[in-house]
Amino acid sequence: MANKQKAKKTVTSKAADAARVKKLGSEKLVAALNRQVGNEMHASLQYVSIASHFDRENLPRLAQFFHRQADEERDHAMKFVRFISDIGGVLEIPAIASPKSRFGSAAEAVGLSLEWEHTVTEQIYRLVDIAKEDRNYIAMRFLDWFVNEQLEEMNTMDTLLSLVERAGEENLLLVEEYLGENGLAAVGGSEGGASE
Ligand SMILES: [Fe+2]
Ligand SMILES: [Fe+2]
Repeated sequence: MANKQKAKKTVTSKAADAARVKKLGSEKLVAALNRQVGNEMHASLQYVSIASHFDRENLPRLAQFFHRQADEERDHAMKFVRFISDIGGVLEIPAIASPKSRFGSAAEAVGLSLEWEHTVTEQIYRLVDIAKEDRNYIAMRFLDWFVNEQLEEMNTMDTLLSLVERAGEENLLLVEEYLGENGLAAVGGSEGGASE
């Protein structure tokens, strides 16, 4: 009899746990948030790799810009990590693909970054779609910050790509000079990120 009661209690608390998780974040949403932790971490590693490319090319301002972007992407990943905890989800960081390491030109490296930012925007939109399907207003509010951030990130990379293309591979020192005179904030960038 006592065992039966105990069993019943376990079932009830399991049901309560399930209800709690469902209320704060569905399994589908938590899985997608975990994937995004991986995507942001991948972006961070990609930007470290690009920064190292510019370091090797003796272009310190461009290197600094990408080191800062890398830090920002890690901050993004950590925002997702904290949110997963806040909604009672299990953090399951996926395998992170190694970033591209070699670039034929600055335009190729910055172009890849711009392309990646567009991909991330699509990933964030997909997360918003899931949050909407779930009628999860908490998650929608959380994701709003990322929607705004992506606009800034895409604009920043777009501006930098224009500068790099306009200067041409032979005149990247002009980009360095521009970034030196105007600060990294001249190409956009956000708080604590690309701004100086
Ligand atoms: Fe990001
Ligand atoms: Fe980004």
